[in-house]
Amino acid sequence: MPAGKHQEAITQEALLNMSRFSLKGRTALVTGGARGCGLAFARGLAEAGANVAVFDVVPAEEAFHAIEKDWGVQTAYYKVDISSKEGLQEGFAKFQKDFHNALDICVPCAGINRHLPFLEFTYKDHQDLLSINVLGLYFTAQLAAKQMIANGTKHGSVVLVASMASHIAVRSQLCSAYCGSKGAVRSMCPAIAKELAEYGIRVNSISPGYVKTEMTASFPHLLEGWKSEAMNGRIAEPEDIMGACVFLASDASLYMTGSDIVVDGGVTGW
Ligand SMILES: NC(=O)c1ccc[n+]([C@@H]2O[C@H](COP(=O)([O-])OP(=O)(O)OC[C@H]3O[C@@H](n4cnc5c(N)ncnc54)[C@H](O)[C@@H]3O)[C@@H](O)[C@H]2O)c1
Repeated sequence: MPAGKHQEAITQEALLNMSRFSLKGRTALVTGGARGCGLAFARGLAEAGANVAVFDVVPAEEAFHAIEKDWGVQTAYYKVDISSKEGLQEGFAKFQKDFHNALDICVPCAGINRHLPFLEFTYKDHQDLLSINVLGLYFTAQLAAKQMIANGTKHGSVVLVASMASHIAVRSQLCSAYCGSKGAVRSMCPAIAKELAEYGIRVNSISPGYVKTEMTASFPHLLEGWKSEAMNGRIAEPEDIMGACVFLASDASLYMTGSDIVVDGGVTGW
């Protein structure tokens, strides 16, 4: 084959391979998508071609409203408290109606942290945290899976948002309950993946390291320490972790299920 033709064939093959990352025509739901990591995931999924709905309790930032214009996909924001069983069910009902039951990708990302010493943690504080980080995430995934089974999608992917805090103790923070909740997310992942495999739905998790969001904004005094914990010497922007979400949502990760991807600048690696 002449060199030019060979190059052309390689380029075409590369494009074909890259098309496995395409989410064109798919529909995604992201909880906690009004800002921070969830917003970055929503934008990344839209950039890859997916229509995106978000559930959140705070109003969506301007960057969410810009998605439709920027990427030419359908978007919708729903005010939904994912820790409420009824709220979650109502949110899904509205979303199903507006998006004609389409759903291929679900990213349960809504989460909170509580900074309290282990010896002072109250039952109420812990329960509030679990109702969002564990129960809310679990039942979001369950309702999403039911919808995917009902609509017969061939591209079902659930991407649970865990944390580096499920792998290690966060040395600068007092967040034992948060670490435990993220451990629950990471360990429920393979168990759910096993049960959904027969429906062709994949389930994986992402464990981000330190990311600049509202969650970490109240700790400016810890920033320098966090940088020194990372091998690459910096804290992530939300956009730094969105690629892992797009990958797990897409057919590029078709052989992955029940796994966790750590995106932490190397914090847990040394
Ligand atoms: N920022 C980090 O360093 C970091 C690291 C690892 C994992 N995470 C995880 O990433 C996820 C997103 O966090 P973030 O850093 O973007 O923080 P964030 O506070 O900016 O985002 C969390 C979002 O979840 C929403 N939310 C909270 N409770 C909710 C509820 N009951 N119902 C619906 N929405 C609710 C919030 O309103 C917010 O929009 C969380 O699960 C968090 O644990 C964050």
